[in-house]
Amino acid sequence: MTGAQPQSLNEATAIRSGRVVHPLSSPIARRLHFRYFREYSGAVAIGSGNLEHELRQQVADARPFVLADRSVWDNGTGARVLSALGPLADSRQRRITAGEGIKSTGIWRDVVDWMQNAGMRRHDVLVVVGGGSLTDLGGFAAATYLRGVPYINVPTTLLSQADAAVGGKTAVNSSLAKNAIGAFHHPVGVIADVTLLETLERRDVSAGLAECIKVSAAQHSGELFTYLTDHAELLLAKDGPALLHVVSAAVEEKLRLLAADPFETELARVLNFGHTVGHALESADRYRTWRHGEAVAIGMATAARAATLLGIADRDTCRAFHQVLTRSALPLSVPDGSVDAVVEHLDGIRRVRGGKLRYVLPRAVGELVVLDEVDTGTLAQAMRGRTAS
Ligand SMILES: NC(=O)c1ccc[n+]([C@@H]2O[C@H](COP(=O)([O-])OP(=O)(O)OC[C@H]3O[C@@H](n4cnc5c(N)ncnc54)[C@H](O)[C@@H]3O)[C@@H](O)[C@H]2O)c1
Repeated sequence: MTGAQPQSLNEATAIRSGRVVHPLSSPIARRLHFRYFREYSGAVAIGSGNLEHELRQQVADARPFVLADRSVWDNGTGARVLSALGPLADSRQRRITAGEGIKSTGIWRDVVDWMQNAGMRRHDVLVVVGGGSLTDLGGFAAATYLRGVPYINVPTTLLSQADAAVGGKTAVNSSLAKNAIGAFHHPVGVIADVTLLETLERRDVSAGLAECIKVSAAQHSGELFTYLTDHAELLLAKDGPALLHVVSAAVEEKLRLLAADPFETELARVLNFGHTVGHALESADRYRTWRHGEAVAIGMATAARAATLLGIADRDTCRAFHQVLTRSALPLSVPDGSVDAVVEHLDGIRRVRGGKLRYVLPRAVGELVVLDEVDTGTLAQAMRGRTAS
């Protein structure tokens, strides 16, 4: 049983193709192909129970090196990976404790030292098993080691399956800003197996839903946004078919956006929806309080309120965002005591970007607009939860 075959491709443009093949009854429910220029092509295999089969297929004859989230490895996923790849010599696997703290130059250096000491060569493949912190770090190590080695992402959080593991944005944080040190390096394959999400904490499911909402806000049909609003409870309960539908739809939409702009110069900036305030909030908080998805949720709710204050969106649009976020058990506003610190961080980002703070606002569900500047006073009001009266 196979997924859709790649279509013939125009060299300079990316495409995606895919169709549902016996959803839920097949280990491979869906395969979406991407190709960004000659160097970057691969497949995102989305399914339920497809991990082992896909690993064997995608790694094929290459020598795998595995970088994994320690807790995920120990919860049974390690045994599944080993059953597909065969026993790995100790030197060819490395486990680390996940979290935003590993996105640092120090840990990046440890990882590339490990790759070198373990004898990894150019045509070997790095398999990264974990959430977005692992795929961002592992992808950056793969981008930089020997000027780039291939890697396969096995995302294990909803956030990473629906978003972080796809698109080739890899990075670690600097002391001043999130994702300040990074590179575009597309994985050669992504294996999203929703059975891996069964062990996720509810809070991490919510955080993942935030990135799904972000992607859905750019989808013109509004189908995914409506699905997320109507099925939030089922998704929070980790219903397999619902998760499969959402991961598949979110990845398809992300690949659609990236197809026109694989290095996110213009179009895909809409993928930054919620991230300007979200990143500033995370940095201001030194990554202590908020999950990344929670900060993005606050950023999206802030943007929706700012859009009403600026007369760009009507109140129904703002209400729709509040509703989907609330149903997904996500926060909506910046606590009063943190607003000034977030504004300070936004000013810092503005300085780094030559005085401009690009800001993504919803005009309606399915229609995002990018403004070069939004005045800080309006943003501060929106952060506190104010909408147009
Ligand atoms: N590169 C991109 O395009 C992109 C897009 C969105 C987000 N991100 C990045 O992703 C990161 C956040 O990702 P995340 O939320 O996945 O974080 P994470 O990797 O820190 O995982 C969150 C928590 O879930 C645990 N976990 C992972 N898989 C699990 C499983 N199957 N069962 C139980 N627990 C599990 C981890 O151990 C961790 O405690 C941020 O650094 C963000 O910047 C990157």
